[in-house]
Amino acid sequence: MRTCVHLRTLSLNFLITLTLLCVCDGARQNQDSPVKAVNLGGWLVAEGWIKPSLFDGIPNKDFLDGTGLQLKSVTTNKYLCAESGGGTILVANRTAASGWETFKLWRLNESTFRFRVFNKQFVGLDGINVVAVTNISTDSEILNIVKESNNSNRVRIQTSSGYYFQAKSEVAVTADISEVSGWRDDDPTVFELTIGGRMQGEFQLTNGYGPLKAPLVMKALNRLLNFPFLVPHACEAGYAKFYATLALGTQFVVFLS
Ligand SMILES: *[C@@H]1O[C@H](CO)[C@@H](O)[C@H](O)[C@H]1NC(C)=O
Ligand SMILES: *[C@@H]1O[C@H](CO)[C@@H](O)[C@H](O)[C@H]1NC(C)=O
Ligand SMILES: *[C@@H]1O[C@H](CO)[C@@H](O)[C@H](O)[C@H]1NC(C)=O
Ligand SMILES: *[C@@H]1O[C@H](CO)[C@@H](O)[C@H](O)[C@H]1NC(C)=O
Repeated sequence: MRTCVHLRTLSLNFLITLTLLCVCDGARQNQDSPVKAVNLGGWLVAEGWIKPSLFDGIPNKDFLDGTGLQLKSVTTNKYLCAESGGGTILVANRTAASGWETFKLWRLNESTFRFRVFNKQFVGLDGINVVAVTNISTDSEILNIVKESNNSNRVRIQTSSGYYFQAKSEVAVTADISEVSGWRDDDPTVFELTIGGRMQGEFQLTNGYGPLKAPLVMKALNRLLNFPFLVPHACEAGYAKFYATLALGTQFVVFLS
């Protein structure tokens, strides 16, 4: 494992050095030469958008670690928001979703999560009120995301003691109801889910597969990632092209100016 990391670091340094040399050289010859594409991903690390199938075997793969969730209350029709970005209560009074309205998943396993807010606090309870005040993950609430069976955009958030989050009003988000039924539009425990950002890297891969399967997946992945070969193609008149061919079977133009 250590050798693999070392090899990859060396390869990266080599590539960066070579790239920089050619950029400087190119820039001298043509001050206006625009940089059109820089893409080192996938060669050195696992990335889902390059090789989505790597993630296919992960249970509940919509909810990988680091995924940002935005939740719109079907009753207030407003987004759930960590007021001030964190440090106080949650509210449901925002018409648009951005940083304060995005909850990042801290994935414990396929069905349990902690939520982290913009200022990095974790979502928890203060009595029945839903708040985001603690910096310490273990002081926060373990949450389950319950999807409507035929519509994965409708969810409820359930605490470990079986209570559901509800937006009773725009400024009162509580967890004080344990009996729910149906997915009606007048049910304050129902939220419409949108994914506001995904992360698909090695951590998501290993965390997603869990401690038993992850070592096998990573072993197979490392075998693939450590035999790329690099062909410095041409470096003339401000044009530098490098092709890194992945053993994964994909060829990328990693630098094209
Ligand atoms: C949302 O509610 C909080 C808490 O009452 C309030 O401070 C904030 O100004 C409200 N924001 C909007 C956009 O209504
Ligand atoms: C996930 O973790 C929770 C809490 O530790 C546990 O109750 C549940 O069985 C786990 N689920 C799976 C699928 O491992
Ligand atoms: C959380 O961390 C911030 C800065 O890292 C600190 O200022 C704040 O006091 C901490 N809050 C708690 C409740 O520990
Ligand atoms: C899901 O099923 C319920 C009844 O089981 C139905 O009322 C609802 O309209 C369905 N939703 C979608 C999006 O098909």
